[in-house]
Amino acid sequence: MKKDFLWGGATAANQCEGAFLEGHKGLSIMDVMTNGSKIHERLITDGIKEEYYYPNHDGNKFYEHYQEDIALMAEMGFKCYRMSIAWTRIFPNGDEEKPNEEGLKFYDKVFAELRKYHIQPIVTLSHYEMPLYLVNEYGSWRNRKVIDFFIKYAYTVMERYKNDVSYWITFNEINAIEFMPYFPAGLIIKEDENRDQVIYQAAHHMLVASAKVVQLAHQINPQNKVGCMALFGVNYPRTCHPNDVLKAELANQDFLGIPDVQILGYYSDYQLKQYEKKNICLIMEKEDEDILRNGTVDFCSFSYYMSMVQGEKREGENHVKGNMVAGLENPYLPTNEWGWQIDPVGLRITLNYLYQKYRIPLFIVENGLGAQDQLTDDGHIHDNYRIDYLKAHLIEMKKAIEEDGIPLIGYTMWGCIDLVSAGSGEMTKRYGLVYVDKDDLGKGTYQRYRKYSFYWYQKVIETNGDILDKED
Ligand code: BG6
Repeated sequence: MKKDFLWGGATAANQCEGAFLEGHKGLSIMDVMTNGSKIHERLITDGIKEEYYYPNHDGNKFYEHYQEDIALMAEMGFKCYRMSIAWTRIFPNGDEEKPNEEGLKFYDKVFAELRKYHIQPIVTLSHYEMPLYLVNEYGSWRNRKVIDFFIKYAYTVMERYKNDVSYWITFNEINAIEFMPYFPAGLIIKEDENRDQVIYQAAHHMLVASAKVVQLAHQINPQNKVGCMALFGVNYPRTCHPNDVLKAELANQDFLGIPDVQILGYYSDYQLKQYEKKNICLIMEKEDEDILRNGTVDFCSFSYYMSMVQGEKREGENHVKGNMVAGLENPYLPTNEWGWQIDPVGLRITLNYLYQKYRIPLFIVENGLGAQDQLTDDGHIHDNYRIDYLKAHLIEMKKAIEEDGIPLIGYTMWGCIDLVSAGSGEMTKRYGLVYVDKDDLGKGTYQRYRKYSFYWYQKVIETNGDILDKED
């Protein structure tokens, strides 16, 4: 493992900060999402209603606890911390002339704290966080005007933090727009609208915005590195029947059709064919092709939680649940408590697949296990299952680097400090190495506790991945 490998953890502003109106922050799309125990049970309400609980309003209270949390990251030896900036702290409505100084000051403090411990920030500009006002007044990314609002926001923060941040990610899981259009793009699609047309037109606007931001980032500081971020886990054929193999390969292409544009600078012929088949007519400005070509990313980051299985569905066969998407059951894999299939070898296959396709450095910016932890009376959390999960994935990651030659920049495990689940809004779906005392309805002390996995990860980082075993 290279000495400068970026070990760390990842979070998103809307899932951890809380303080949803503090410092003149505006409402974001996640501020009107209720809790629920499944992704489809979360309601998007018309404004904030008394009768519901909105888990992102307090997150894990990172806004108040950021110094303590960053000190915990430093104690684990983090080399980097993937975080996001809440767009609504900087431009509360999204279309203001001037940024909100109070919001900027909050991140000044966060970056100063990270600097103190030599932790490199990896900053996502939009992690499921856009101003609600832009959704209600402009129709979100349907509207080309939103490109300029996003660029203004991106320029503001990239300029302000140019001495603090050199790794930027434009949109979290941009391709999730196909499955859950509200999350990455704030899209609420009406019944009489052509769903595909809305989604892919909005995605196009995001791609243009992303490409312009890449160019800007390089102008602001030639050392800046900007990445795309894809939701991805390789798709397996259910059998070696050519039809299954084909189905799996086409599913891989479907997943990557949008990130492709950020990496290659153009839509693949396959993707354009899909648009043609679905009667999608992309409205493009004259300059768009040049913008896309000149704004390709420096690295490809992705989240990996599971692989998927594709094939002809047999009678009585189950679909398994997963991160936003469902696939066929893989009889060789166990699942987590939420039915997500656990597949460490799939991570190595995914790394190989992405690198062979793109030939640019990769970055695993999310991976982890959501589980229900028990806090013992004496303040311990025996999360050996999380250590087993992470260890198995790191073994495969190391093989990909050392045996397959994959250039990997780093690994940031997801939700290093317990936070609100994006899918369900639950707190009990915990990913962290640090436990936060909060329940699904927001009750608790918000006190932090180091889990067993905290000490294990500390050792992993200290030995640069040489020691992955847990101590007895
Ligand atoms: C990714 C998201 O899809 O998965 C995160 O980028 C999210 O925001 C993570 O939290 C885990 O999903 P969930 O639904 O378990 O929180």
